[in-house]
Amino acid sequence: MHFNLVAGSCLAALASISLAEKIPANHILWGPGGPPTTLVPRQAATSTSAAASSTKVADAACTNGPFTRTCWSNGYSAATDFDAKWPTTGKTVSYNLELVNGTCNPDGSANGGRPCQLFNGQYPGPTITANWGDTISVTLTNKLATNGTGIHWHGIRMLNTVSQDGVPGITECPLAPGESKTYTFKATQFGTTWYHSHFSAQYGDGANGAIVINGPASSNYDYDLGPFPVSDWYYGTSWAIGVQSHNNLQRGAAPPPADTILINGTNVSGGGGKYSKTTGLIPGKKYRLRLINTSIDNTLRVSLDGHPFTVMTSDLVPIKPWTTNWILIAIGQRYDVVFTATKENAKGNFWLRVNFATQCPSSGQLNPKAQGIFSYQDAPDSNPTSTAYDEPTDCNEPLSNLVPWVKNSVDSTAFNNQVGSLSVDISSPGLNTNNQSIIVWGVNLSAIDVVWEKPTMQYVKEKNTSYPSTFNLIEIPKENTWSYWIIQEPSNTRVPIPHPIHLHGHDFYVLGNGAGVFDKSTSPSTLKYDNPPRRDTAILPGGGWVALAFPADNPGAWLMHCHIAWHVSDGLAVQFLEAKEKIPLGDSAWDNTCSQWNTFSKTMPFPKSDSGLKMLKGRDGNSFYD
Ligand SMILES: *[C@@H]1O[C@H](CO)[C@@H](O)[C@H](O)[C@H]1NC(C)=O
Ligand SMILES: *[C@@H]1O[C@H](CO)[C@@H](O)[C@H](O)[C@H]1NC(C)=O
Ligand SMILES: *[C@@H]1O[C@H](CO)[C@@H](O)[C@H](O)[C@H]1NC(C)=O
Ligand SMILES: *[C@@H]1O[C@H](CO)[C@@H](O)[C@H](O)[C@H]1NC(C)=O
Ligand SMILES: *[C@@H]1O[C@H](CO)[C@@H](O)[C@H](O)[C@H]1NC(C)=O
Ligand SMILES: *[C@@H]1O[C@H](CO)[C@@H](O)[C@H](O)[C@H]1NC(C)=O
Ligand SMILES: *[C@@H]1O[C@H](CO)[C@@H](O)[C@H](O)[C@H]1NC(C)=O
Ligand SMILES: *[C@@H]1O[C@H](CO)[C@@H](O)[C@H](O)[C@H]1NC(C)=O
Repeated sequence: MHFNLVAGSCLAALASISLAEKIPANHILWGPGGPPTTLVPRQAATSTSAAASSTKVADAACTNGPFTRTCWSNGYSAATDFDAKWPTTGKTVSYNLELVNGTCNPDGSANGGRPCQLFNGQYPGPTITANWGDTISVTLTNKLATNGTGIHWHGIRMLNTVSQDGVPGITECPLAPGESKTYTFKATQFGTTWYHSHFSAQYGDGANGAIVINGPASSNYDYDLGPFPVSDWYYGTSWAIGVQSHNNLQRGAAPPPADTILINGTNVSGGGGKYSKTTGLIPGKKYRLRLINTSIDNTLRVSLDGHPFTVMTSDLVPIKPWTTNWILIAIGQRYDVVFTATKENAKGNFWLRVNFATQCPSSGQLNPKAQGIFSYQDAPDSNPTSTAYDEPTDCNEPLSNLVPWVKNSVDSTAFNNQVGSLSVDISSPGLNTNNQSIIVWGVNLSAIDVVWEKPTMQYVKEKNTSYPSTFNLIEIPKENTWSYWIIQEPSNTRVPIPHPIHLHGHDFYVLGNGAGVFDKSTSPSTLKYDNPPRRDTAILPGGGWVALAFPADNPGAWLMHCHIAWHVSDGLAVQFLEAKEKIPLGDSAWDNTCSQWNTFSKTMPFPKSDSGLKMLKGRDGNSFYD
């Protein structure tokens, strides 16, 4: 509803406004104070959870079990600062993923399904499971005839392994049809995350799956129900919807609405499909559910009738457990929750509800609501008749609830000197060959445009610093410093919608957020430096700001982008080039991926015509960035 209003007034005005902004010529962007001269070292993290919890702190003597989930093994526990240390198991878990062209019809819709691009032919793709401290090795083969690909391991820190981060045009060349690549990286964190193609819009066509890294947890539970992805779903391919979305933007309209919601990969539609059904709940037992939002464009709200959720993670970070009836999940975010099966609910069936959070508008969505079923042992084989909890009416990420279990603090003294600001808005990078103004999503008015044939890591390899300005490259030259960013939607934006901002290679600390404009004289006093929320994806409130900090402690080229596929496709991203002299370079296999791609790209049937990070071809037949 709110969005329709926005679409009707602000967006309709957009087409008539002439947008004459220019891309800043300089590719190295600094905060208002110029290049930081007073770099302040990162503070040593305080390393125990004592302040975060009154529960028993795990130690070497205890092992992980239903009543001791904070324990792990060999002295590692939920109280371990996993940025500083992690177990070494010496074990490698290996997977093979083949990206294939196929069709899928996850909700059994009467249209008979649509073309999909799937890992091992399944949607969602196979779950990758490892233990904390294992090495994960995944061999990807591109069986598509016409698309490149590449897999990003969302939220995985990739410490000193940036060449495995899987971002075509930044950390690698795309994998050409017929080629294979083995990604190898260490599971230094634990919890729930996902992997997805980062080759334009491909992940929206089904190319994604869950990652579970077993480790300690901040809340006890008896059974792990495993990953539970929730997602919006389109009946058109994301390649086609992406074109529509871009074209809509040109005339001031919202992206096309999604057609449905998938719960754990299914829904019921027009008599086909099936409900997601989780059976056999036992009264008195606690269940862990790993919620993942793999949407393209929509924030979702999840609830299980009659069963409050105890939330124990924000992304890959264990938090002090808190309880809620509904949890809001932005795209790319994860929350692991525990619920208790009770005697009162024995033999019952209950709806699990997934609703579009209409207060977090992006597409011109109405109000779809989807349902799945959770049933107890000996429940009748019938649909639930349970009643929904009252649904919240805001789009707030509950920062005060997201208290990391391991207490870390952020240096506050360097903030004012070192903070940079990044403005997120639609903009027009200039006139194209047809003299039309093209509207894109920019950061400080510049839409990112990566070059698949020559990724940032190739520049680093060649020690070539002539990065194109459209790389939106921000250098962080020195390690062991804090990087602070205010991301701001300007108060006069014509599109005041929230954006889920995701950073690669790091968790960031969310120092604060707010409505309106961040005011450097008053807003800093509202920021939290002492154990602020820590995660890899945070909501930038519509027409507001979010303040983020991360320690430069991982040399690499790290993308930071909006996880709405249509927005990153239209440019909403920057990349941080961190300590470039110390970046571990790609090896000969990495070079080979590039040479194979460069051969293929000379004759590829569908030229790149978006930012290259999430989307597609078309653009009214015009090359987007000409
Ligand atoms: C982005 O633009 C804002 C507003 O003009 C400016 O204050 C800030 O320094 C810019 N950020 C960067 C990284 O250049
Ligand atoms: C991919 O599969 C779809 C649906 O089966 C089919 O229409 C299309 O031609 C296939 N594309 C390629 C390149 O094989
Ligand atoms: C990828 O393949 C799809 C389906 O065949 C096609 O529509 C799209 O244009 C291709 N994109 C690129 C960049 O190859
Ligand atoms: C499937 O999702 C749609 C939302 O698009 C919803 O209207 C419909 O009720 C869902 N079906 C079920 C059985 O939940
Ligand atoms: C989700 O779906 C998978 C595959 O069908 C199934 O194995 C798993 O049990 C489901 N998870 C839950 C919590 O129902
Ligand atoms: C997924 O994230 C999108 C965008 O932030 C949001 O609109 C949607 O409600 C989220 N879905 C769930 C189930 O949380
Ligand atoms: C394109 O637009 C610019 C600026 O509006 C104008 O000066 C120029 O004459 C136009 N060129 C053509 C070929 O129409
Ligand atoms: C650096 O990269 C630019 C852009 O690809 C290229 O034009 C230039 O020749 C390169 N410089 C060197 C010294 O290789």
